[in-house]
Formats: sequence, C-alpha cells, structure tokens
Amino acid sequence: MPRLSDRSVPPPSTENSFHPPISQILEQIADAVLLLDAQSHILYLNTRAQQLFPETQTGIHFFSTPLDDELDPVRQKIERAAIEVIQGQAIRETSAYLPQRQQWLDIQIHPSDWGLSIYIKDVSAHQQGLARLRLLEQAIIASNNGVVISDMQHPKQALIYCNPAFEKLTGYAQAEILGRNCRFLQGPETDPATVEELRQCIRERRDGRVILRNYRKDGTPFWNELRISPVRDSEGQVTHYIGVQNDITERKQAENALRESEQREREKAAQLEDTLCQLQRTQAKLIQYEKMVSLGQLVAGVAHEINNPVSFIYSNLNYANSYAQDLLNLVRLYQQHYPTPGAEISAIASEVDLDFINADFPKLLDSMKAGAERIRQIVLSLRNFSRLDEAELKPVNLHEGIESSLTLLQHRLNAQTNRPAIEVIREYSHLPKVQCYPGQLNQVFMNLLNNAIDALEQGVSLRVLHSPESLANTDSVLPPPPTIRIRTEIATKGKNQEYITIRIADNGPGFQEEVKHRLFDPFFTTKPVGQGTGLGLSICYEVVVEQHNGDIRCISAPGLGAEFIIELPLS
Ligand SMILES: Cc1cc2nc3c(=O)[nH]c(=O)nc-3n(C[C@H](O)[C@H](O)[C@H](O)COP(=O)(O)O)c2cc1C
Repeated sequence: MPRLSDRSVPPPSTENSFHPPISQILEQIADAVLLLDAQSHILYLNTRAQQLFPETQTGIHFFSTPLDDELDPVRQKIERAAIEVIQGQAIRETSAYLPQRQQWLDIQIHPSDWGLSIYIKDVSAHQQGLARLRLLEQAIIASNNGVVISDMQHPKQALIYCNPAFEKLTGYAQAEILGRNCRFLQGPETDPATVEELRQCIRERRDGRVILRNYRKDGTPFWNELRISPVRDSEGQVTHYIGVQNDITERKQAENALRESEQREREKAAQLEDTLCQLQRTQAKLIQYEKMVSLGQLVAGVAHEINNPVSFIYSNLNYANSYAQDLLNLVRLYQQHYPTPGAEISAIASEVDLDFINADFPKLLDSMKAGAERIRQIVLSLRNFSRLDEAELKPVNLHEGIESSLTLLQHRLNAQTNRPAIEVIREYSHLPKVQCYPGQLNQVFMNLLNNAIDALEQGVSLRVLHSPESLANTDSVLPPPPTIRIRTEIATKGKNQEYITIRIADNGPGFQEEVKHRLFDPFFTTKPVGQGTGLGLSICYEVVVEQHNGDIRCISAPGLGAEFIIELPLS
C-alpha cells in the first residue's frame, strides 16, 4: 500500500505560512479544514478542525497522533480514503458517524500540490432531519388511513405519492395513480355538492373535511371520510396538498342500521299509542254499548208495556164515542117524548147541564184520542230508536231514525223558561235505503241532536258559520231563533263513489279550534263535571268511521255555530 510519505511535497513547516486573507477565509467557512503534506504532517488546520481533533496541531503526523476512542475510527476512515486519493489522484468522499456525540460528518479529501486537503462538514442537522423524515415516512407507510400527496404546481394537481393503505383501500397500485388527479375515485353516487365543497377549499387554499361516496378499482362503492390540507413553502405558497382517506363504510352502515332501528322503534311507539287509543275507544264503546243495551232493553220493555194499554184506550175510544152518542140520543128522545119528567129527574137534569155535556163530550173524546195517538207515536219512536232486534246490517231509511230521535227529544225542543222553542229545519233529499246498523246510527243522531240542543241552551250566535260546501247557499244561514238545520243529500267522491251526507248544524255559540281538534277523543268533554261523559262524540266516531266505513267531521268557530257532517258510503 503506498504511503503518504512516498509523495514528494515540501517539508512541513512549523509555522503557518499561508497568507492571512486565505486563512481568514478558511476560518470563516463552516467546514473543518486540514491540510496535510505528503508525509501526512499537518500543514494547517482551522479552528473547527482544532475543535474536532483537540489533540492535534500543525506539524504533527496526523495519522499517528493518539486520539480519543470515538475519533480514532474516524481518522482511520480518513486514512483509508486518503490512500485511495493518492493512488487515484481523484477526490474521494466518505462519511462517519460518532454515536456518542450523535454527530454525522461528511468528509471530502482532495489531492493537492502540497499533499492533501481534507474538508470535514458536520451534517448532523441534515442527517437528523433525514432520519426524522424516514421515521415519518415509516409512520405514513404504517398508517391505516390512506395518504396521498398532490402537486399543486402541476396543472392537473397530480398525485405524486400514495401510501400502501391507499392502495389497499382503493385497489389501485401507486404506479397507476401517479400523475392523475384524485377525482378518478368519484362515480355516479358521488354528491356533486360535496365535490364543490372540496373544490372551494382547494380554491381558497384551506383545510377541508368531507364525507363522500367513492369507488374502488373494482367498482365497489365506499364511504370516504376525506381530509385535505395545504402544504406551504417558506414564502407561504401552497406547493402541495395532503389528503387523508378513511373508509367509514362500516360506520355509515352502523349509523344507517341505527337510524332504521330508531325509525322502527318510533313506529312501534306510534303503533303502541294507536293501540292504546283504540283500546280507549273500545273501552268507551263497551261502556256506552252496555249502557245503551240496558237502556234499550228498558226502553223496549216500557214501550211494549205501554203499547198494549194504549192500544186498548185508542181502539176503545171509537166505541166509547159511539156509545156516548147513542146514550145522548136516547136522552134526547126521552126529552122529546117525556117533556115533563118527575121532580128528581128535573133536578139532576138541570144539575148535569145536559146541553153542555152534549156539546163537550165529543171534543173530550177527540182530545183523548189525540193524546193516545201521541203516546202511540212516542212508543213507536222508542221502539224504532232502540231497535234491539236489528243488530245486523240492513237497509234502512235514515230519515226515520232522525225523526225518531227528534220525537224523543221533542220535550227539549219545546220553548223553555229561558229561551224560545228550537226551530228544526229539515232539508231532506230523496235518499235510498242505506245498508247500516240502524240502532247504532240512531245513537249517533241522538248524540248530535242532544249536543246541538245543549249548545243552543248556552246561547245563539248572531252570525252563522257557512261550511265551505254550503258557502254558496244563502239559504243555509241560520239566524236566531235557536235553530237546528238537518240536511241530507247524495254526493259523489272520486271515481263514482256515492255516499250520503247528513249535516246537523246549530246556531249555538260554536267552539275554539283546540276544542275542535279533541272533539272525538274519548273522555273529552266541554260540559261541566257530571254532565257529560266525554264519550258521546267518540262513540259517534266509532260508529260512523269504524263500523260504517264513513267519515265524521265538524266545522265550527266561536260565535259562528257548529256543523257536524256525517258521510256514509252507499256501496
Ligand atoms: C390531496 C387531495 C386528495 C384528494 N382525495 C380525494 C379522494 O380521496 N376522493 C375524491 O373523490 N376526491 C379527492 N380529492 C378531490 C379531487 O381531486 C378534486 O379536487 C375534486 O374532485 C374537485 O375538483 P374537480 O372539480 O376538478 O374534480 C382530493 C384532492 C386533493 C387535493
């Protein structure tokens, strides 16, 4: 192996004979500089070199001076490289690491006229930076999130990097995506508004976070939680953007499943509420039904019991009349043939006032007949109303039911001490018989008419509500006195769906919107405690809507009366 001392270079000088300006320059540079002669004696070393090798000084043999344990291997490296330089007469570069000092040195050895120039640069900061970068890269490689970097100075904002997680997530290899814009992940279900949000962020060079539908290479969609973030250079210019992708498809599915199950729970709760409501209605119906059955039985029994004696009276009144006429005729004949009867007969004849009896008796029998007739009418209405024998669906004349109810309520319609008689206006159309449960419908008419009378007891509206349907009819106005108007008609809904409408309107005080909404709720009543069960209208609803597939609603406003509209399908 050639030795450094084999070269012919000037002998070492113990003095630093270099011109001050050059040595000044060498002092100012960041590198440690060592100049060796051909025998490896130190010709010159600047302060940094002195600091690095404190044991050395000019004139000594650089490769044989003892150094500390950490520096010795460095010097050996320099020596090996120096030999190569001398052999090849070319610049040689090497590096060394001092673990205890955590110092990285880059070493350059140049051949020169006087021997060798050695430049040693401390690159620890640079190396540490690199090591840190390598660590960070490792972290990005190990990350479960996709990471991409796009070059913002490239016209397409092309991708220049993607980590393995991105490759795994999307199915694309890095080689396939480099140079492309990341929009290739988008597809038919990608929301344009979300893409616009991203575009806006990039335009304004700011951070962004979106969740959007993306597609893998094999076409399968996934939910991508994407964060993008600008990278700026020392002048604040955005040179790159970093994108971090997170596949949240499972989370989304779980959220959807949760939402669906919440929806199901809500539906169940609504169903439960419905069932509860139905139960309340059924309970109300049962109570009312029980009441009506026993009342009906009572009414039917009483009607039957009254019917027989009234029939005797009614049918015998004609005989009584003719017998009385016969007797009076006989008395008249006696008067003609025996104009002067005995004193006892004359006394009684003047006492009984035979002429008066003669004139009054037929009238008396007539009024008895009218009374009996009225009783018969009431009995008929009672029987018609209770209709216990008609629990089955059957064709019925609805007007008969309404009239029976009116007959039974006649005493309430009559004038009272605090108000005049209630006028009932009938606006009946010609109706066909309707297939229905007559007993139940009679109960509806009875309830509505009773309520109308109750309302009229409280006062009379001066203005009267017109339902939208009756608005055009000026004759539908119900001015005082207290009035109930009952109107029936046939109407058509949708495709030839014929139905019968029964409107029962009163010009009472009417009621507020909130009352209107709760009218048909079981146990809701506006009447004082003890006067209303709150079941009347809920029974009406039950009978019309549930039993007859019809509809019942109410139009009312304070001071404008109220109108109940029942619709019953004809088929
Ligand atoms: C760093 C970075 C990462 C991006 N990652 C995605 C992505 O994973 N999925 C996606 O649909 N769009 C992604 N984009 C958005 C698109 O590349 C593009 O900016 C967006 O579609 C709006 O621009 P355009 O109107 O040119 O398509 C990313 C953008 C950047 C800058």
